[in-house]
This record gives sequence, structure tokens and C-alpha cells, in this order.
Amino acid sequence: MDVLVLKGHIVDAPVFGELHCCENGYLICQGGKIEGVYSALPAQYEGASVQDYGDKLIIPSFSDMHLHGPQYAMLGMGMDLQLLEWLNTYTFPTEAKFADSEYARMVYKKLAANLIRAGTTRVCMYASIHRKSTHILMEELEAAGVTGYVGKVNMDRNSPNYLLESTEQSISETILWLNECEGRYANVHPMLTPRFTPSCTDDLMLRLGEIACERGLLVQSHLSENLDEIAWVKALCPDCNSYWQTYARFGLFSDKTVMAHCVYSDKDERRAMLDHEVWVAHCPDSNINIASGIAPIRRMLNEGLNVTLGSDIAGGAHLSMMDVATAAIRSSKRHWLDTGKQENFLTVAEAFYLITSAGQKYFNAGPGFKAGDMLHALILDDEALLPHTFLTPEQRLERLMYLSQGNCIAARYSQGKPVG
Ligand code: GUN
Ligand code: FE
Repeated sequence: MDVLVLKGHIVDAPVFGELHCCENGYLICQGGKIEGVYSALPAQYEGASVQDYGDKLIIPSFSDMHLHGPQYAMLGMGMDLQLLEWLNTYTFPTEAKFADSEYARMVYKKLAANLIRAGTTRVCMYASIHRKSTHILMEELEAAGVTGYVGKVNMDRNSPNYLLESTEQSISETILWLNECEGRYANVHPMLTPRFTPSCTDDLMLRLGEIACERGLLVQSHLSENLDEIAWVKALCPDCNSYWQTYARFGLFSDKTVMAHCVYSDKDERRAMLDHEVWVAHCPDSNINIASGIAPIRRMLNEGLNVTLGSDIAGGAHLSMMDVATAAIRSSKRHWLDTGKQENFLTVAEAFYLITSAGQKYFNAGPGFKAGDMLHALILDDEALLPHTFLTPEQRLERLMYLSQGNCIAARYSQGKPVG
């Protein structure tokens, strides 16, 4: 089987809060799969050709656990608005344009290329309600080397006519899309995507829950992001005590579910997420931009929740998960100050874990560079910055994260192969 040997300073985060570094180490892959990290080349690989990255860093690539593909077309727009107004004014008109396949192709091609450029090789992503352009998104991701899950969005209420499905239509298009996906993609797979409770009738949720169960599908949605949204859900679902129950009662709240935001999830909701093993996608850039709030990330981590990070494009305006990681740190520092320094802010090592190892687990991989996993890696080159003579590889990684040096990514590997 073909052997790939990468040489350089290998930095990963196999344990939460710890950076592990193997200076001048060898990362060995066989048939695209990680075989191991070694400080010296094992005898059996002598003679194998070595891709020598010299003084560069080798790190795992990033997982973006929540973003909206079509909203890439409105990046950096509407940031004076809050969630519900922002959706109506900017987001829904933008997503409606994805009825046009040609437009979808143009945007999604750019998005896929720029995700890879930014070092993201695994995603959980919303498309729009449109089945055809959802396929276009999946095709473009696959062609660029982005792996993971994409959802055709379901919306059958409280949406403008130009972005609304009937319940029947939403279900039949979803089933048709799921059937069409079978055998069509190697590394991009479908996941169910009820937009959020205000956009989905009970009947739609019930049937999506049945489909999820029958087909063993993953699910993504939004939870407790904004106070007006939460009040609206209460009014829409008077028989549910808490937002999470609006999903759980239909079987859409399990270890297969990624819930974005969870800014205002109280003790009971967090307990429910823990008990149901739900995944949290914390989206700090978005939460500040559209003024949703500050999620108590340290508390969630201490309670044992599965916390991951998402860019939430285009609530978030940064595609680079390095930017999202430092946004999470800044947001946690604000929370630390607000709580009388009770709940510690995130460290660099912790935030790096959250953009690599934490998300990898959702894709049945990781943490860190784990033997047996497909290779997903980045080569970082900081030669263009001030000299790193006196810096450790860990310090160089921190500097690259904070300086948002996405353009310092010199090479990328996804699913065992060079991409980008
Ligand atoms: N809740 C429902 N839809 C959306 C969306 O598109 N973005 C965000 N941030 N929250 C949502
Ligand atoms: Fe979102």
C-alpha cells in the first residue's frame, strides 16, 4: 500500500487542554490512513520517500460544525440586526436565490475552495430548501476535498412565500434527495436539517423524526440562540416546558444531533443535552455579531457536554476556524469577567482542541492524529512573519491562530490526499 511520510514539527491536541508536539517528527500514513507519529523514522519505512516540510508545523485540519452554505453570498452583511430581523431582511432573500442552479454553482464553488484554503476539511453544513442546489453544494464540497455532512433545509411555516414548502413537499423532496444521495458521493453525506422550531410544524418534525429513525440519519438544528427566538418558541409550543423538548418529543435530540448555539440553555436544558448526548456547536463569532449573547462554554465543558465550534456563516463573518477559535477565547473572557472570574476562560490549547479533536469525534475520528484515522492535516508556514527563532512550535501555533494567518497554510490533506 502507498506510504506517505510527512516530516516537520507535528502539533496536535489529543487531550483537552494539552498541546502535544513532536519536533522534527514523522507522520506516517498508509493508504491515506494515519499509521503513527514518530520522533525517528521507523526502520520499516526507510527508503520510503519523505515529504520534508523542514521547519514548518504539521497540525490536524479543522472541523466547522455549523455553517450555512448559501449565506456565504451575504458574508459580512446585516450585522446591525438581531436574529429574527436579520433572517427576514437578509437571510431569507439570500437563500431564495438558490432556486437558481447556476447561481448556486457559482457561490458554492467559491465557498468550497475557500473552505479548503482556510484549512477546513470537515463540516456540518446547512444548504437551503432547494434539493437541486443542495446536490450542487455536495458536489462542489466533494470536488474540493471537503468532507462531512450537508442538509437540505426543511421549512414549512413562518417563512416568506418565496422560501416556504408545504409539509408534503418538504417531506417528499427530502426523501427524494436522500434517495438520490445513495451511492452518489464518497465523502459528503446527507443529514436532516429542520431549520429551527419556528420554521417547522409539528407534523413536519414528527415525520422528520420518523425518517431519522428509519434511516439512522444525523440531525442538525438551532437551539436557544436568541431571547426573542426563545419567547417565540414558547408561544408556538405551549405544551413544551423548554425549547429542547420541541425537538426531543419527535426523536430529534440524540447523540446524532448537533445543536447550534445553546447560548441560553439553562441547567435543565444542559442536563437534557448531557443525558441525550447531544452535540453543541458553539458559534462565538455569530453570537457577538448578531448580538445573541455569550454562551457559558466553560460551564458546558465542566458539565461534560460535547462542545464543538462552528463559524455559523453568515451570522459569523469568518470562514477560518482559527478566527472562530480566538473568538471563542475572547467570548469566554467576557464571560469570565461577567461572572466575577468564576468560570475560567478558554486557553489556546483548549480552543485548538475544539476546532480539531472535538469536531473530529462527530466524524468517528480523533482525537489528534489518531492511528487508524484518515489523514486530515495542514502544513503551516510562518516564514513571512517575524522570525520564530526563539519560539516553540506551540507558541508559533498560538501566534498563527491570533494573527489569523490563514494564508500561512502551505499545504492541506483531506481524507488521506493532498487538496487545494
Ligand atoms: N436560526 C434559524 N435560522 C438561522 C440562521 O440561518 N442563522 C442563525 N444564526 N440562526 C438561525
Ligand atoms: Fe446557524
